[in-house]
Amino acid sequence: MNNLETVMKLDKEYLFQNYGNRLPVEFVRGEASFLFDSTGKEYIDFLSGISVVNLGYGNPHFTEALHKQIDEIIHTSNWYFNSKQALAAKAISDNSFKGRTLFVNSGTEANEAAIKLARKYGQSIDSDCYTIISFSESFHGRTFGAMSATGNKKIHTGFGPIVPGFEYLPFNDKEAFLKTVSEKKVCAVITELIQGEGGINVADKEFVEFVYNTAQENDILFIADEIQTGIGRTGTLFAYEHFNIKPDIITLAKGLANGIPAGAMHAQEKLLELLGAGSHGTTFGGNQLATAGICAVFDIITKNGFLDHVNKMSEVAFSILNQMKSECPNITQIRGKGLHIGIELNKNGMEFVNRGLEAGLVINCTAQNVLRIMPPLTIDEDTLRKGLDIFKYIVKQG
Ligand SMILES: Cc1ncc(COP(=O)(O)O)c(C=O)c1O
Repeated sequence: MNNLETVMKLDKEYLFQNYGNRLPVEFVRGEASFLFDSTGKEYIDFLSGISVVNLGYGNPHFTEALHKQIDEIIHTSNWYFNSKQALAAKAISDNSFKGRTLFVNSGTEANEAAIKLARKYGQSIDSDCYTIISFSESFHGRTFGAMSATGNKKIHTGFGPIVPGFEYLPFNDKEAFLKTVSEKKVCAVITELIQGEGGINVADKEFVEFVYNTAQENDILFIADEIQTGIGRTGTLFAYEHFNIKPDIITLAKGLANGIPAGAMHAQEKLLELLGAGSHGTTFGGNQLATAGICAVFDIITKNGFLDHVNKMSEVAFSILNQMKSECPNITQIRGKGLHIGIELNKNGMEFVNRGLEAGLVINCTAQNVLRIMPPLTIDEDTLRKGLDIFKYIVKQG
């Protein structure tokens, strides 16, 4: 079936409509940084499935590793040893900090695991030590714990009562943080280092380091939600590397397995005993297919030159976009790091997303008026420039 109208009819008849109005296109094939719809029309992908397909479509090493794994075995169970899972955990540890990993299937589940670990940690200190601080405009996922950690009332609406024990503080406000830490028994703080769904809001370096140092001094765990920012997206393997901090826990998903559903919570060694036998688990988490994908992703992103390329493409993109800002009164601010870029407009951005689609460019709009650009990290300069030309064309139309 490749008739768009038929797909749309089936979708409307059989699916929950929780994604609102899907854009009227079905992508049926991808190649490097290009997507193709069911009519054969070509698009430059500036979204990567929301920071997921970071290696682009059809990366030969990744595809070969998955094919091989499918031929051998896809899944057994977490009752048995799994060499791919152990190697994937080692790859995360070797490339962040020496610690322990628990594999899950998505970002929300990675945060769920971090929240459970933080609560266990709090209980190990004092039975009243359960408060978790998060920040306004944050996004941590849609399951109950992760949704409750999310500092955006719209995400909670209609699902109450949400999980108690979360405090939402203004982002980049040191005083508010200090006040809560002095008044409540806080076990953890969870934060994105660049808020993705909140509109590509980059955390102040001074604020992050203040929160981290205060947390360390008060035995509070620092959880960095790297679900959108990790795996090279910001020009370093993990966004926390831009700051002088060493998180107690990082949570990963999205680009972790380049599109195979996978998530991970990676924590410092000192927390090992808190998640003992029977404390947490999942059927699919870390299965052979997912972890073969993760191993292949780390093989590729840790190769010499991979991050240099991301940083070079980032410079090209920011330089063109800053120039564009001086020519387009619609653009009020350009922000972000690496290839995690937000273009704030003085109006709602959805019409630009639609225009992009018509013109052969896939972009997205977040926080109503921020256009988000997150191309595959492997995008070549020529394609990046062509995509930005289309971007300028659609933004200039006003
Ligand atoms: C920062 C952040 N945390 C958590 C999540 C939730 O991840 P998932 O949709 O895989 O559950 C997202 C998804 O957009 C995210 O951007």
